[in-house]
Amino acid sequence: MAFWNRRTSIDGLNQLDERHRLKRTLRWPHLVALGVGAIVGTGIYTLIGIGAGRAGPAVILSFLIAGVVCACAALAYAELATMMPAAGSAYTYTYATGGEMIAWVVGWSLILEYSVVCSAVAVGWSGYAAGFLQSIGLDLPHWLLAGPHAGGVVNLPAVLILFAVAGLLMFGTRESATVNAILVVFKVSALLVFIVLAAKGFNGEYFKPFMPFGFASHVDAGGEVRGVMAAAAIIFFAFYGFDAVSTAAEETIDPKRDLVRGIIGSMIVCTTLYMGVAAVALGAVYYPDFAASVEPLAYILRTLGHPLAANVIAAAAVIALPTVILAFMYGQSRIFFVMARDGLLPDRLGSINQRRGTPVAMIIVTAIVTSLIAGIFPLAEIAELANAGTLCAFIAVSLCVLALRVREPDRPRVFATPWPWLVAPLAVVGCIYLFISLPAATQIRFVIWNAIGIVVYLLYGRVKSHLARVYRDA
Ligand code: ALA
Repeated sequence: MAFWNRRTSIDGLNQLDERHRLKRTLRWPHLVALGVGAIVGTGIYTLIGIGAGRAGPAVILSFLIAGVVCACAALAYAELATMMPAAGSAYTYTYATGGEMIAWVVGWSLILEYSVVCSAVAVGWSGYAAGFLQSIGLDLPHWLLAGPHAGGVVNLPAVLILFAVAGLLMFGTRESATVNAILVVFKVSALLVFIVLAAKGFNGEYFKPFMPFGFASHVDAGGEVRGVMAAAAIIFFAFYGFDAVSTAAEETIDPKRDLVRGIIGSMIVCTTLYMGVAAVALGAVYYPDFAASVEPLAYILRTLGHPLAANVIAAAAVIALPTVILAFMYGQSRIFFVMARDGLLPDRLGSINQRRGTPVAMIIVTAIVTSLIAGIFPLAEIAELANAGTLCAFIAVSLCVLALRVREPDRPRVFATPWPWLVAPLAVVGCIYLFISLPAATQIRFVIWNAIGIVVYLLYGRVKSHLARVYRDA
């Protein structure tokens, strides 16, 4: 059989050899916490500023567009995650639906997404950490706070936080998930405090003109990327993370019930929260004033005369944004693990440390790579690259839902996407529109990354994969 036609069956996914199976330790509250922990992060805490700079007050529409696309994709994820409760998320669903080669492209994009998200959040965290330290009289030199693009040498706080989170992950899933749940409470409470205080300074005049830079993504005369869609293409970052829940499928005690609650529940909590934060932020301070800040929410509260609350927000960001890194680094190590288990990456990468029950070697590699990116590159570029990888995965998952509805209409669906022929195509078209709204440089980087991936596949996975062996032996 030609290698691009190789695929495994959905039933086959659950027949794993025990040596390669992850321990089942998670319940749905852990998953909702993992989901909210992964979703609420640098997107709402920092990229809201960059988004407002691109779209003006109409960034609220950018939030809405990105939110609707993610909600459609979340429904598709919930259907597949409950149908195939094995680790690996979009990669695994594509493996069983579209075959090995397409799955490889999706997995390779997920590796990009998960790594680069960790880097982006670490950079966002560093902005709040530096602001917080400054407010208590500790000024770090600029060369230790930014990469060469901004006249510095390295973003040291970003590098340090990545290694700290990697250390936590190595202690094992259960411990990490409990710490995560506590930190999520901090992070969400801080946003609620922000909404209450910023709402008091609401001024409708700040919403005029509503859409100063138009709708479509474009580069203006000054070389700036502008438009509602340009903002949506970066704000999209704020919404995903629920897909990290599905990477935990194999470690969930009751996947059928817990995964739906984890994915849909965390998405509802976050979208509601974001709409509140965005509306009051735009009404509290005229958007050009906070657009350039590396800690926009703290900046807004300071401008409104709430220095103490600003420090509380900064402290919450410092304490809790690492939960996002935790969730994505966790997802990253699991994607690697599953791809190695399928023989598409060297087996050693998937090996689980016997004492800890976690893939220690892979976590260390992930920490090194993500800290290199975070230490050097600017936030917007890192976040946009992560978005490109995520959009690819969302498109794949939505298409898988449709393909399986046609191919296996009678297979029991614990959670069935409502109106699948509307919801899934909407997710696909929305993701494509967001992708083409990304800057050209990001699109080119993404294509280069995948071209490298295909070469790696043709040289390694195509020959060494387990399916290659199965078909050879048959
Ligand atoms: N949604 C996550 C964040 O905003 C990736 O940080």
